[in-house]
Amino acid sequence: MITFSKIADTQTFLYQQKTNGLKIGFVPTMGALHEGHLELMRRAKQENDILVVSIFVNPIQFNNKEDLKKYPRNLNRDAELLKSVDCDVLFAPDNNDMYPEGQIIKSYDFGNIEHIMEGSSRPGHFNGVGVVVSRLFEICIPHNAYFGEKDFQQLAIIKKLVDIENTPVNIIPCAIVREADGLAMSSRNIHLIDHEREVAPFIYQTLKMAKDSQGVFSPVKMKQFVLDKFKGKPEFDLEYFEIANETDLQPIKQWDKDVGTLGFIAVNLGKVRLIDNIRII
Ligand code: PAJ
Repeated sequence: MITFSKIADTQTFLYQQKTNGLKIGFVPTMGALHEGHLELMRRAKQENDILVVSIFVNPIQFNNKEDLKKYPRNLNRDAELLKSVDCDVLFAPDNNDMYPEGQIIKSYDFGNIEHIMEGSSRPGHFNGVGVVVSRLFEICIPHNAYFGEKDFQQLAIIKKLVDIENTPVNIIPCAIVREADGLAMSSRNIHLIDHEREVAPFIYQTLKMAKDSQGVFSPVKMKQFVLDKFKGKPEFDLEYFEIANETDLQPIKQWDKDVGTLGFIAVNLGKVRLIDNIRII
């Protein structure tokens, strides 16, 4: 595995690989790698000639300074995990290289997708994601880029981004990887204290119950059902549960078997904010 920290070195190397006809598979991350990340990488390695992974905790996508400060960082451990999936190139830039002083940060219009759920809960978050991913695509020039459905709204934003920027890259969605008890894997899970970790699977259990009620409940009733479930669990602070279509993530009012539909949830458990989703139709 070759590790680069400088943009110019990375670009020169990958441009050469591409010119030699090699297919580049790219997995952008913020590090603190877990099995969810590694699954994306195994797939990218399998479907391409070289696997490129970036690790960069992107400050401009954090709307909460405390969250940025406490975001777990451990590059040495991550580098070992990357070797275990046979990663070819690690790109780990520093802040000044990615965001030179004085450079203007672009402002995107992602339309409806950015104003709901994560967009309204975390102002500026998706613009920050768009800016960094667009920059990473320019540097890593991937044929295929892999994103997890765990962040389903982010995935929709990235699809819109490559549309806006006309970027020649295939965006490949990958299924959510869960712990054995159903909790969606996340770099933030390590901040859960023992008791919180024990009760955290309630989130996915409730999503599954909601999904199973689709034959009997209207979307409004299903939403109420989830709200009521969380009312009985004071350790959780439910931020939202929304039922929305899979393309532009707008809330749906009635079921339509021809419209892919998911349930989306954001919950605070202690000091940790967790998101998850489930396909309903
Ligand atoms: P990060 O949270 O590190 O996630 C990197 C990628 O791993 C994302 O595509 C995310 O959806 C995926 N992922 C995380 N947990 C997963 C799980 N349990 N199952 C499947 N995939 C999972 O998402 C980001 O970083 C950043 O916003 C980034 C795109 C790198 C831009 O800064």
